Amino acid sequence: MKLRQVTSSAPGKVILIGEHFVVEREPAIALAIDKRVYVTVRKGVKGVRIHSSCYEGEVDLDLNEVEGVKGYFRAIFNSLAEYREIPPLEITIRSEIPPRYGMGSSAATAVALTRAVAAFLGMELDKEEIAKIAYEAERMVHGSPSGIDNTVSTYGGAIIFRRGEGFLRLNVDFSPVALLVAYSGVPKCTKDLVSKVKELKGRYPTIFEPLYHTAGRLAIEAARALEEGDFTAVGELMNINQGLLSALGVSTLRLETLVHKFREAGALGAKLTGAGGGGCVLALVPRERVEKVLMAIKPYSEWIAQVEVCETGVKVEGEGV
Ligand code: PMV
Repeated sequence: MKLRQVTSSAPGKVILIGEHFVVEREPAIALAIDKRVYVTVRKGVKGVRIHSSCYEGEVDLDLNEVEGVKGYFRAIFNSLAEYREIPPLEITIRSEIPPRYGMGSSAATAVALTRAVAAFLGMELDKEEIAKIAYEAERMVHGSPSGIDNTVSTYGGAIIFRRGEGFLRLNVDFSPVALLVAYSGVPKCTKDLVSKVKELKGRYPTIFEPLYHTAGRLAIEAARALEEGDFTAVGELMNINQGLLSALGVSTLRLETLVHKFREAGALGAKLTGAGGGGCVLALVPRERVEKVLMAIKPYSEWIAQVEVCETGVKVEGEGV
């Protein structure tokens, strides 16, 4: 039976503890969230044509193009072509996650796209293969990503991840707390920030090594606190993590302002999330204080969202014949 179209989706993420440190193999904690990217695949006329609300106009893929946005899509199709010849396709991407907010929109796009194309072409791909293909696409835009974004987007839930080792799913009851995310007004660029951090660390290795070790301990301690439901401790550990991220040079005045406004208003913890330099601040807030905190933050951010942890990773939403 030939399918006429397939829609697949994958969640975005927030990093609760350990961004940047995770690039150098320290453990980190990421949460899949209930904001998703949806990808629909249909039969096309010529080549692969991509329509996306995130990119201007349409993208016609050129087999020889390996840079930028096209390089990112190209990486996915090159990987998929190892399994099967790719026929002409028409692809539509719809995202609930704004790009460059630090909420994993590019990884979620790669994961959902891989799943949708595989389903459309009747290819059997397991989650490990999907995460791997998405990682190759992430490499095109980020240089040397840790792999945390494509992993959490593929599998969903709350995970503790270590580069080169894999991940463990955490068993957490988030019902007493809410996660609030506020945009700093400045889009972030992961690749630039990761190389800036690498450069600084390279200049002061003996100072940064213990700091990285501390960040790894933070993630392990936070994983324990999450599973025990000790959100006061989780909040404190997020605050300590923010201090370490500041030391790496990835915080900004806008991010710090949001962090401190969140804490003043009653958040248990607040920190930048993702690469920093812009993007968003993540706050952990007891549910009964959400309204009050939202009111207090409103004057300082043009985009604030309450997100829930989403246990479902990549999935096929629907198929039509
Ligand atoms: O801002 P994002 O969503 O691209 O997250 C970046 C996370 C880093 O740890 C800074 C990079 C990585 O590859 O893990």
